[in-house]
Amino acid sequence: MSLSIHVCPWWLAQALDNPIRRLIHSPDKILGEYIEPGQTVLDLGCGSGTFTIAMARMVVEAGRVIAVDVQEEMLQMVRQKAVKEGLTCRIITHQSEPDRIGISDRVDFALAFYMIHEVPDVDAFLMEVASLLKPSGKLLIAEPLMHVSESSFKKTVDAARLAGLKPVSEPKIRFSRSMLFQPDNAIDSRNDLV
Ligand SMILES: C[S@@+](CC[C@H](N)C(=O)[O-])C[C@H]1O[C@@H](n2cnc3c(N)ncnc32)[C@H](O)[C@@H]1O
Repeated sequence: MSLSIHVCPWWLAQALDNPIRRLIHSPDKILGEYIEPGQTVLDLGCGSGTFTIAMARMVVEAGRVIAVDVQEEMLQMVRQKAVKEGLTCRIITHQSEPDRIGISDRVDFALAFYMIHEVPDVDAFLMEVASLLKPSGKLLIAEPLMHVSESSFKKTVDAARLAGLKPVSEPKIRFSRSMLFQPDNAIDSRNDLV
């Protein structure tokens, strides 16, 4: 896959976190059915934290959100919001490398919202994401419809398949191309080894 050097600037990500965006991309509507109290979840390319903060509410006190981004400015914004919302205990921020996430926690759910098209090596990135999912884990990828062509998105889906992730549904997300994945050998969460 081709190398990309473009990342969303911090000021655009900050501008994206507004009430109109939250109406169009309501985190509760998009993620509500996948996230449960007590879970460990991953927000890949968290930006200014629109989804991180909502996910932190969904996992409640016993759960954790790992907010990952290549840009420290984004993580600073997330930390500020976490303080303001009283959610610091549930949110861990982690600065990743463009070609390596670099965490070792196994997660119940991972979100990659409008970020895969900025990742330089999608194959390697999705391999690493797959290795972080619990056997019952899920990955939701959403990409902007106007920015990512059908053929580019298909390449991403193919890369996920190669990484051992099986497409299970195409959730409807406004202005987006999206796919929900599970590990090929997915097992019921009640049998999950932690
Ligand atoms: C368009 S923003 C989307 C932010 C957020 N997911 C949202 O929907 O509001 C893309 C984010 O992905 C981050 N990003 C780009 N490449 C990345 C990589 N290889 N690993 C982690 N984060 C990355 C950027 O820094 C930016 O914050």
